[in-house]
Amino acid sequence: MVAPYAAGGPTDTIARVMAERMRVPLGQTILVENTTGAAGTIGVGRVARATPDGYTIGIGHWGTHVVNPAIYTLQYDTLKDFEPVAMIATNPQIIVAKKAIPAKDLKEFIAWLKANGSTATQGTAGHGSGSHLSGVYFQNITGTQFQFVPYRGAGPAMQDLVAGHVDLMIDQAANSLPQVRAGTIRAFAVTDKSRVAAAPDIPTVDEAGVPGLHISIWHALWMPKGTPKDIMAKLNAAVVETLADDNVRKKLADLGQEIPPRDMQTPEALFAYHKAEIEKWWPIVKKAGIKVD
Ligand code: MLT
Repeated sequence: MVAPYAAGGPTDTIARVMAERMRVPLGQTILVENTTGAAGTIGVGRVARATPDGYTIGIGHWGTHVVNPAIYTLQYDTLKDFEPVAMIATNPQIIVAKKAIPAKDLKEFIAWLKANGSTATQGTAGHGSGSHLSGVYFQNITGTQFQFVPYRGAGPAMQDLVAGHVDLMIDQAANSLPQVRAGTIRAFAVTDKSRVAAAPDIPTVDEAGVPGLHISIWHALWMPKGTPKDIMAKLNAAVVETLADDNVRKKLADLGQEIPPRDMQTPEALFAYHKAEIEKWWPIVKKAGIKVD
């Protein structure tokens, strides 16, 4: 299973939870391999070029399969060059900051950013990544300015946030919640209309004073185009069985993940949702004016 971001980050963590349990119905081990760089485009490209023999699975998300094709000139089409397996789960992002930031809520944090914009930094999962786009959004909505520091994933970016080398992240709940619980970083708001069940104390952006900054990252699995239908059906069945497993559901819920209902766990549902997300977000992403090539 190719994970297009660095080890220890949300995509790697979710990939390992899925791989560990999918092993049972498939009767063989799934190796998670991190192929990183360029906001995940390199790892996804590896899956697009892989032999469609059923032995290469790609994990990806809103960033890799919706945002990246609107920003990067890719050698593959995220809708046409892959066989959709199934959606895994969705999580909002959390606006988090290093512990030393003297702000008790989002309003005070925005004031701090306005006072320190020339030197403030946001750690991102790569230039053009979902977290970078969210940062541009946050700047546009709040009138703040700060620098973007790209990493090979949210995992290494989080290490630098905890160490105080960057000031903020707009980061997936799966990556931030363990650090928020450990008290090593501050959390100001979730980028959603409703609070995260696993972190009921963190207000929504609407409650915290930045209404409308709603961004959720959904993860899913894909195979190379041309993978035989019977193999696709076997993989989908393994995902469905895994998402029904109580232990997996608890692990994902603790990471702030919301698992889609059964009727949304089909390849057709993933394809339709992916297509709808592209139609919704491309005009918005292109308007954000992030260019990488
Ligand atoms: C990661 O695993 O590093 C993330 O999925 C990157 C991101 O949030 O875009």
